[in-house]
Amino acid sequence: MTIAVRSLPNESAGFPEVKSPSLVANDALRLAAAQTFRDVRVHTEKLAAPLSAEDQVIQSMPDASPTKWHRAHTTWFFEQFLLIPQRSEYRVFDSRFAYLFNSYYVAAGPRHERPKRGLITRPDLAEVAAYRAHVDAAVDNLLANCASDRLAEVLRILEIGLNHEQQHQELMLTDILHALAQNPCMPAYDESWRSPGAGAASVSESRFPDAPRPGRRAKPAGDERFVELPEEVRTIGHSGGGFSFDNEGPPHRVLVGPVRVTRALVTNGEWLAFMRDGGYDSPSLWLSDGWATASAENWRAPGYWREIDGAWHAMTLGGLRPIDSAVPVCHVSYYEADAFARWSGGHLPCEAEWEAAAGTGELDDAFGVVWQWTRGAYAPYPGFRATAGALGEYNGKFMVNQMVLRGSSFATPVGHARLTYRNFFYPPARWQFTGLRLAESSV
Ligand SMILES: [Fe+2]
Repeated sequence: MTIAVRSLPNESAGFPEVKSPSLVANDALRLAAAQTFRDVRVHTEKLAAPLSAEDQVIQSMPDASPTKWHRAHTTWFFEQFLLIPQRSEYRVFDSRFAYLFNSYYVAAGPRHERPKRGLITRPDLAEVAAYRAHVDAAVDNLLANCASDRLAEVLRILEIGLNHEQQHQELMLTDILHALAQNPCMPAYDESWRSPGAGAASVSESRFPDAPRPGRRAKPAGDERFVELPEEVRTIGHSGGGFSFDNEGPPHRVLVGPVRVTRALVTNGEWLAFMRDGGYDSPSLWLSDGWATASAENWRAPGYWREIDGAWHAMTLGGLRPIDSAVPVCHVSYYEADAFARWSGGHLPCEAEWEAAAGTGELDDAFGVVWQWTRGAYAPYPGFRATAGALGEYNGKFMVNQMVLRGSSFATPVGHARLTYRNFFYPPARWQFTGLRLAESSV
């Protein structure tokens, strides 16, 4: 197994286990880990590069964080969880940064209020860049010089830190899109950005070189619209080698089917049909909480959509663009996805249905276009135990009141997601790159 950040969605981006006491093998591991670390850190900076200092400070809502904060927080993560425990001679860059850039780790100490991250004008961008360089050098040094009997633990924490930074890379894009959408001029993050699913060149060559090129598989003869899943007890959840987050396990058996899952993602055109059919005016289609939210927020269309001279447009990373009916719908909440599914006569797949269907390899755009809402509540799998220590706060303590999304989006770093990956957000959330596919009982 090679160490690679760039890999197919179902492959792990993780490190090999440290099994061999051979110094040669360990030296190769150290070098490969250092290269992967550099690749991930450089990609973060590449995503931030088009943004001005003003862009990088703004916080447009409590859920969205400033770019500068993302760059510093991911750096603090390595400092807090890797360098301080593993390198006795390490000196923190600035003792005040732990308070500013700790997100939610109670065990790691007090922290700044999340909704006020946009009020932090200092440290400025240059200081944050220096902070990143300081930590980068220290991690390089640690990888080169840590004792062999500590290498496995160093790599374990490093791998979590890299996957953590990749999650924030996607958040940098969702959060800056929300910020730029507040500007009446609707400026582009990247003028060359194109909608995922809009064709072979749908993703900017310059900004997202590693993103998969969404493409439709050739439809098999016969059953064209669905992947059929007969009634069967199946094992879901992560097992075997490679990296996974703790919330993806343990693997366990679940009764699935009979059910069929749509091969295709729901498109803008289908969503327009839902709108024209009064989808946003029909309380019978909606969950009670969903109807209350849609009414209070006056939802008439997906997030970022606006009607201009009778034509629907949407704010995107490329600026304001006309809606393309053929591409998958994006920026819909769980509440909207659920209402759409009821209108269509189907339902959102549960997690096991999604995982079983995607496991066949026959779904279109399971990865790399939009995250897909499931009707699975974000709860622990049977036998789940959070990781020990402060890192146990990473996933486990959020296992209430949220819904699981599967797959990945165009903004997810390639190699980060996998078949068992469980993303999760609150039901009203619309600023992530979220869409849906449908399922229906085939009894
Ligand atoms: Fe984080």
